[in-house]
Amino acid sequence: MTKIRTVLITGGAKRIGLAIAKYLHQYGFNIIITYNKSKNDAEKVLYTLNNNRSNSCAIIQANFSTTKSYNSLYNKALKVFGRIDVLINNASKFYPTKIDMVNDKNWADIINTNLKTPLFLSKSFFPELKKRKGSIINIIDIHVNPPLKNHIIYNLSKAGLLALTKSLAKDLAPTVRVNGISPGAIMWPKSINKKRKKEIISKIALQRIGEPDDIAKAILFLITNGDYITGQNINVDGGRRLNM
Ligand SMILES: NC(=O)c1ccc[n+]([C@@H]2O[C@H](COP(=O)([O-])OP(=O)(O)OC[C@H]3O[C@@H](n4cnc5c(N)ncnc54)[C@H](OP(=O)(O)O)[C@@H]3O)[C@@H](O)[C@H]2O)c1
Repeated sequence: MTKIRTVLITGGAKRIGLAIAKYLHQYGFNIIITYNKSKNDAEKVLYTLNNNRSNSCAIIQANFSTTKSYNSLYNKALKVFGRIDVLINNASKFYPTKIDMVNDKNWADIINTNLKTPLFLSKSFFPELKKRKGSIINIIDIHVNPPLKNHIIYNLSKAGLLALTKSLAKDLAPTVRVNGISPGAIMWPKSINKKRKKEIISKIALQRIGEPDDIAKAILFLITNGDYITGQNINVDGGRRLNM
């Protein structure tokens, strides 16, 4: 068993999850990422990080829309380095569900990925995190309140994730700290047009979108310097919430 602290990041093959993986790796953590469809991207991360520092990264496939085997994911993850210190619930489904698009399939897909998985993974990982005096970080969204138009199920999933963060912070204390990071506009979704991007930027106090590393920096702070912080939700949004 290694003495190096290990972080598991769900959905870590691309975009913000990838930035978190690379950033924490630079700071000496061992990294395990889960991926669902992005096998090639996950293998690239595996190759790059292990090339940089041997035996420092592992990847595990998991589909959180359908999985029932959270314990099996936990067992696979624990076997890799013999310890888990931090669980980062980052994987997420994001697409509109106007009222007429609300159905069982969308509900299960978004709620299972964004809300059920963070709860059930927290349950599976709790004994190990307790042993390590570790922490859980949930990636939420500034749009928890006020909600994003036409995204009913996504809004519910992230509002639930905020409630989960606070519930877990109470229930897993005093050994395991649980916090949320709520990104503002960091990486545009594929569907967004130029006009909408301009509108959003005009409402951000810092007048620009953020970098994925801004999220990673807040996470590093919570892990390494946040010893007295639990149950909090930190907005990393360039001041966007000032104008919502
Ligand atoms: N982007 C932003 O500006 C922004 C703003 C507010 C909040 N956030 C939050 O920040 C986090 C990261 O954002 P992002 O834009 O980087 O996320 P993203 O690209 O939408 O999704 C991240 C990863 O989640 C994984 N995922 C999705 N459905 C899954 C499933 N059913 N099972 C397993 N994995 C699944 C995907 O893995 P595969 O590719 O391997 O399938 C994907 O790469 C998310 O929680 C998001 O809600 C982001």
